Amino acid sequence: MLNLGVLISGTGSNLKAVLDAVAEKRLDARVNVVISNVATAPGLEHARAHGVPTLVIDHKAFPNRAAFDGALVESLRAHEVDWVVLAGFMRVITPVLLEAFPLRIVNIHPSLLPAFPGMHAQKQAFDYGVRIAGCTVHLVDAGTDTGPILAQAAVPVLDTDDEPALRTRILAEEHTLLPRVLQWIAEGRVTVVPAEQGGRARVSVTRGEV
Ligand code: GAR
Repeated sequence: MLNLGVLISGTGSNLKAVLDAVAEKRLDARVNVVISNVATAPGLEHARAHGVPTLVIDHKAFPNRAAFDGALVESLRAHEVDWVVLAGFMRVITPVLLEAFPLRIVNIHPSLLPAFPGMHAQKQAFDYGVRIAGCTVHLVDAGTDTGPILAQAAVPVLDTDDEPALRTRILAEEHTLLPRVLQWIAEGRVTVVPAEQGGRARVSVTRGEV
């Protein structure tokens, strides 16, 4: 069983997907705490509805990113978290958080990385005019959306799409992919192969259903 801490900043629909998967026993995990850096984040309600403890840690109350991350680490440890999930958490994280949970931080990103990292990935993809878009679940490293990729899901971009339509289609895939990958981790099916000199860490996933 995974002990998860989920970090959010907004709507929290991916958090809801994780909480629903736990409740429906599709995901062998417990969400020990949900932390938002935004006090008004609607996603906090999903946590409360599932009886999960919530915390608001406002990044603006700290002098720098490292101090904010230090507060996150303290709270995650206090709740005995062993894997951290970034589910629409819109802050750049520092080595303080990375080193507290080395290769145990999972992020969901709304593009087929390495295309369109950073903010507004769906708009970047739509504006570029790609014909296939999608989402990526990856382990977090020191770069922006650069860590080892665990899984991706693709969706078509239709001629009739506007950017919100594409965003909605991608989001539906996110809701399936994130809990599924967390379950792979829970089953011990994910192995990180350390980087060779100058190379990238790789992930090997023993797949059942993909
Ligand atoms: C999701 O699309 C997620 O992939 C994205 O923010 C949205 C959060 O939605 N994350 C990023 O762009 C991170 N760079 P949610 O709050 O409803 O889960």
